[in-house]
Amino acid sequence: MEWQWLLARASGFTAYVLVTLAVVFGLLLSQRWQSRRVWPRLVNDQLHQYTTLLAGVFTAIHGLSVWIDPFTTFTLKEVLLPFTSHYRPLWMAFGIIAAYLGLAIVVTGWLRPKIGYPWWRRLHYLTFLVWLLATLHGLGDGSDTRTIWAIAIYGASSAAVVGLTLVRLMLPAGRPRVAARPGWAALAGLAALAVAGFAAAGPLRPGWNAIANNGHGSGGTFSVPATTVSVLTPYSASLAGSVAEQGPNGQGVTTLTFHLQVQGGQYNAMTLVLQGQALPGGGVALTGSGVTLGTTNDPGMFRGSLSRLNGGDFLAVVSGGGGSLTLTGQLGLVGQSGVQGVLEVQPGSAQGGFGQGGGLNGGFGSDDGGGDQ
Ligand code: HEM
Repeated sequence: MEWQWLLARASGFTAYVLVTLAVVFGLLLSQRWQSRRVWPRLVNDQLHQYTTLLAGVFTAIHGLSVWIDPFTTFTLKEVLLPFTSHYRPLWMAFGIIAAYLGLAIVVTGWLRPKIGYPWWRRLHYLTFLVWLLATLHGLGDGSDTRTIWAIAIYGASSAAVVGLTLVRLMLPAGRPRVAARPGWAALAGLAALAVAGFAAAGPLRPGWNAIANNGHGSGGTFSVPATTVSVLTPYSASLAGSVAEQGPNGQGVTTLTFHLQVQGGQYNAMTLVLQGQALPGGGVALTGSGVTLGTTNDPGMFRGSLSRLNGGDFLAVVSGGGGSLTLTGQLGLVGQSGVQGVLEVQPGSAQGGFGQGGGLNGGFGSDDGGGDQ
């Protein structure tokens, strides 16, 4: 995985947490939630402004790292203009609009003496929209949305923002003449439920990548369906991961499962399942196999089986989304359960001439680094 993509994800979450904190501190300030006894006050205007500024800095780093990432190859236009992205266009647009809106709100803060307090205040309510757009953007665009830690970040942030907003609307503090606003509170509660429902029905389910990319339900205008395999050019990538051995079961069948990360390719997740009778000297005489290739979010985009295995050399054809890929490569064991290797991906199925119909017979040495011959 490229460092730019790692930076994009890390800075995205940092920006998101900072936007959340800025909103939370703003709500606490408006509730006069500050200690008058201790110094510095627990939550004060500077803290609110500082987190906002930092959120801006990390959003800029996020946008920049997304742009320079060599894998997604965004043009400057795609990064700056909403709805022009080839990757998850609607969800990316939400992030871009959130960033512009956030910037506009900061600028109106500087212009407060000019535009007057009432207008500044009205515009400042748009912060809720910035936070909502950032949440939808992270959920819909992110590749980490389905991880436990990402769900925890989105859940905790939403609980803090929605909870405090409800308190602010129903129990406004510090201003005796300000009435509770049950209508707005109901709207905020409904919006929170709608976002939670959307997350559960969309980004948290397998297959979201295809939905987010080809426009079904995402409103996207540019489609990158799985059929793009037909225009994919061959490429090489490196493999790294681990292997787990199960069995033998009652029929003497042992299963080896390889979980592999594909580094430097369009698809970054691969699994290889080999089943067979254990050989006396170690390894497995194959009786069945399964291969998947995809992304972290959607690991089963392509499925197939091995056509050939010879030592650590393998050939597999996988298909999905209307296209096929031929995978050739080599695997070798590192230590007890580590695996390293190389992978070549070619569009189409180049099965002919590779022992088709000859059945699967190969041994995968489990103790001698079988891929190194
Ligand atoms: C307030 C502004 C923004 C916030 C808080 C924010 C936050 C996030 C978060 C939390 C993620 C999820 C990362 C992951 O799951 O790994 C994400 C992903 C992403 N964001 Fe943003 N973002 C913002 C603005 C932008 C802008 C302006 C762009 C365009 C340049 C952008 C492009 C992307 C892309 C392409 C991804 C997908 C990265 C991935 O799959 O890991 N974001 N963002």
